Amino acid sequence: MITYFNGAFMPKERVCLSPDDRGFLFGDGIYEVVASYGGTLFRMADHVARMRRGLREVRIDFPDVDGFGAVCARLIRENGLADKNATVYLQVTRGAAPRKHRFPAPPVPATVYACASEFQLHEAEQEKGIKVILVPDIRWTRCDIKCVALLPNVLAQQRAVDEGAAEALFVRDGAVMEGTHSGFAAVMKGELLTAPESNYILGSITREVTLALCEKEGVPVREFPVLEEHLREVDELMILGTTTEITPVVQVGEWRVGDGRPGPITRQLQKAFRRMVAELDAV
Ligand SMILES: Cc1ncc(COP(=O)(O)O)c(C=O)c1O
Repeated sequence: MITYFNGAFMPKERVCLSPDDRGFLFGDGIYEVVASYGGTLFRMADHVARMRRGLREVRIDFPDVDGFGAVCARLIRENGLADKNATVYLQVTRGAAPRKHRFPAPPVPATVYACASEFQLHEAEQEKGIKVILVPDIRWTRCDIKCVALLPNVLAQQRAVDEGAAEALFVRDGAVMEGTHSGFAAVMKGELLTAPESNYILGSITREVTLALCEKEGVPVREFPVLEEHLREVDELMILGTTTEITPVVQVGEWRVGDGRPGPITRQLQKAFRRMVAELDAV
C-alpha cells in the first residue's frame, strides 16, 4: 500500500513514526476521512475546510491543507482504487518532541500521514436497518473538533458491539446528539429532526448533504435536539456519515422503531443520496 508521510509517497512499511509523536502520546492531532466514489473525491472542499478549522482551533500550524486534494487523488490512483469505492484517512499531529504538555518550543514540524483503502458499502445495513444503543455522552465539550483522541467513542462503540448493535448514540442532558462515528436524525410527523450544530456535535458533512437533499426532496427540517424521552414517539431514525451514508435505525436497545422496518422518508433520502453519488463527475 502506498501512503503519504511528511511530504513523500511511500509504502506503508517504510513509514517511521517517532514514539515522541504528540499524536501517539497525547492524541494531539486532527484527522479526516474522505470518501472516493469510483475515483471522485466526495465533498473534498468541505473536508479541507473542516480540517483547516480544526487545526486552527487546536493551534496546530500546518498551512498546506489545500494540498490534501492532490494527495488524496494520487493515493487513490497509485493504490488502484480509481474504479472502486474507497476512503482516504488524513491525519496531522503537532509533531514529535520530548513529552511535555505545553506546545514544543521551539515549534517542530507537524506530522502528516494519509492512506487510502477500499470500502464496501454496507448494503445489508442500508437495506434492513441497524440496531443502536444509547450511552451517556462522556466526551469533552469540543466535539466539533475532529481530533484523534477518541477514547470515549472507542469505548462506546465497543459497548455497542458487545450488545449486538452497530452503533452507540451519545446522550447529553437528555438529548440524543450523534453516534460514535456518525451523525443522527429522526423523523417525527413528516419532519426531519436533528441536533443543531454546536460544540457538542461534529459538523458532519453527510448531515449537511442530507439537509440539502431534504430541501430538494421537499422534506421539512427542524434543527432541534431529539430528546431521549421522545425517542419512542419518533416514526423513523437514521444515522449519517461518510461510508455510513444514510443508514436506517430500526432498533434502539430492546425496543423497535415504528414497525421495525426502515421508514419512507429514510428510504426517499437514501435513494436521493445514491442518485447524487451516481451523478458525480469523474476526477
Ligand atoms: C462523532 C462523529 N459524528 C459525525 C460523524 C459524521 O461525519 P461525516 O458525515 O463528516 O463523516 C463522524 C464521522 O466520523 C463522527 O466521528
